[in-house]
Amino acid sequence: RRPISLPRLAQMRAAGEKITMLTAYDATFAAVADAAGVECILVGDSLGMVCQGLHSTVGVTLEDMAYHTASVTRGLHRAQGTAWVIADLPYGSYAESREQALRSSCALMQAGAHMVKLEGGGWTAPTVEFLVERGIPVCAHLGLTPQTVHALGGYRVQGKDDVAANTLRRHAHALQDAGASMLVLEMVPAALAASLTEELQHCHTIGIGAGSGTAGQVLVLHDMLGVNLGKMAKFVHNFMQDAGSVKGAMQAYVEAVKNGSFPNNELHAW
Ligand code: KIV
Ligand code: NA
Repeated sequence: RRPISLPRLAQMRAAGEKITMLTAYDATFAAVADAAGVECILVGDSLGMVCQGLHSTVGVTLEDMAYHTASVTRGLHRAQGTAWVIADLPYGSYAESREQALRSSCALMQAGAHMVKLEGGGWTAPTVEFLVERGIPVCAHLGLTPQTVHALGGYRVQGKDDVAANTLRRHAHALQDAGASMLVLEMVPAALAASLTEELQHCHTIGIGAGSGTAGQVLVLHDMLGVNLGKMAKFVHNFMQDAGSVKGAMQAYVEAVKNGSFPNNELHAW
């Protein structure tokens, strides 16, 4: 198997093959996800909730992210994995200036990431352009952006009315123009995510609670395994339920995303 690269992801997209992504925070789960056929591993700052027991991602530091990114990439290396590794830039590590964002991104790239992810639209476009010009692939993240949960007023669907949808669309286009090659859309209406996916040919949309029309899907590892401290979000499916093993659950997830049975817009979307 050849390593997953940006050209390979673009090929998949062109061929109409869905891109699969799962979060992982340590060496072993990353290697198992890779072996199950997951193309992209996100070292998400959701680790604040699922590993550290925090109530939001706001408390996660750059040092935390670098530590988990290094663990994941060591696991993949040992297992001769091929996954594309994306690391979240955590709260407070990229908003101050483009230079700060570059320094933080370099720390994650040096920990082994292939791409960094940052949340938000509008002000983030110049930051994305600055990073991409300097050879750092960037994944953007719009819709429900958990680092700004206190400003958003809770974990709720975004882009529901026309004004919010138009703002989101404007931000998404600006991020593609700035060079973002991936875009996570979290908790946005399925119709909006599907139309954005058609519009953005150079930026692969990855949905979570955004319906089945995106170029790919992502879930938090613990959620899809059915191990959760809180209540399960509507957009999640417990793939462990009918699987005999963690690897089996991940394979079922990959298969369901590829064949279009997950997500189901009736059950998992808005
Ligand atoms: O941190 C995370 O796990 C994420 C995904 C939910 C997209 O950002
Ligand atoms: Na995140």
